[in-house]
Amino acid sequence: MKHKITLIPGDGIGPEIVAATVRIIEASGVDVEWETQILGAQALEKYGSTLPDAAIESMKRNKIALKGPIMTPIGKGFTSVNVGLRKALNLYANVRPIKALPNVPCRNPELDLVIVRENTEDLYAGLEHIVVPGVVESLKIITEKASTRIARYAFEYAKDNARKKVTAVHKANIMKLSDGLFLECFYNVAKDYPEIESDDKIIDNCCMQLVMRPEQFDILVMENLYGDIVSDLCAGLIGGLGLAPGANIGEQGAVFEAVHGSAPDIAGQGIANPTALLMSAIVMLRYIGEKDAAQNIENAMMAVFAEGTVRTKDLGGTAKTNEFARAIVDKMKPPAAGVSS
Ligand code: NAI
Repeated sequence: MKHKITLIPGDGIGPEIVAATVRIIEASGVDVEWETQILGAQALEKYGSTLPDAAIESMKRNKIALKGPIMTPIGKGFTSVNVGLRKALNLYANVRPIKALPNVPCRNPELDLVIVRENTEDLYAGLEHIVVPGVVESLKIITEKASTRIARYAFEYAKDNARKKVTAVHKANIMKLSDGLFLECFYNVAKDYPEIESDDKIIDNCCMQLVMRPEQFDILVMENLYGDIVSDLCAGLIGGLGLAPGANIGEQGAVFEAVHGSAPDIAGQGIANPTALLMSAIVMLRYIGEKDAAQNIENAMMAVFAEGTVRTKDLGGTAKTNEFARAIVDKMKPPAAGVSS
């Protein structure tokens, strides 16, 4: 079966890791027609908008996108393209599996958990204003609808993936109304899943527990801002941002991207680690039903890590992005002729 997928190379290291990932997917024999679109500063120049209709329409039509990171400059005049995209496509669940890879030196080699981050509201609603000069107000929006939807997604994910426990992460002791509502919705949904254990942790304690005793966690579900921060913390526990994949799931489509950003400090040098985007692509291939190709790529990637001789600079190696991609392609089984499962 032929798949039409929107491809967004992105900024900074984006085009380098996207090229490496596309090369590996194509070597797996999956039949993909890529529809390349641009977002962010590049799109502003061409279309006069950082989030052009052409890209949104492409993603709505194809329902699947593989996306490199987009830079959002700090300061006035630029709203986040990533946040805008998630809102435009209603990609309400951000799923971030955190699992250590073989032979990668890290704090927690046994770690295997999933962060489910609410993706559409909270302080990312972008509602900020100046009250009087020197005083600004930023509004945190939490709704019953979005909180219930993300809690249900987390429990359904647990059921589908044989996970045993879902933990809600919050600060309801201080934000009694907003985080209180999130927590109330979580426990209401939990009643429908008696076979799955449920509990909750206050965010600050949760961060400490993640560092000290992360094996107690299985699935963590949380609001947008907490999810953003805790994902990076967990990426650090398994060896860094180059290893943390992500999927943004909505009712009408999904966008697959790494947790990390555009890494301007190493852009253009060909040394970025494409693993996080590649792992996002593996999740994407499973999502579109290409399970054999996904497994083929994952086995090859695991073999490269297990061997430990070809690794990128962030993991202490000397391999360039394209050398790492070639090592994975070399370990892949040749695809059955013309077959896309
Ligand atoms: P970053 O994630 O781009 O980089 C943080 C550190 O991790 C840097 O030292 C970088 O070199 C390293 N790093 C990240 N990915 C790596 C990879 N694949 N291989 C090797 N090293 C890697 O975070 P930063 O610097 O805070 O953000 C840069 C830009 O990215 C900002 O404009 C931000 O808004 C944007 N961003 C975009 C995201 C997206 O499009 N989904 C997500 C996060 C940030």
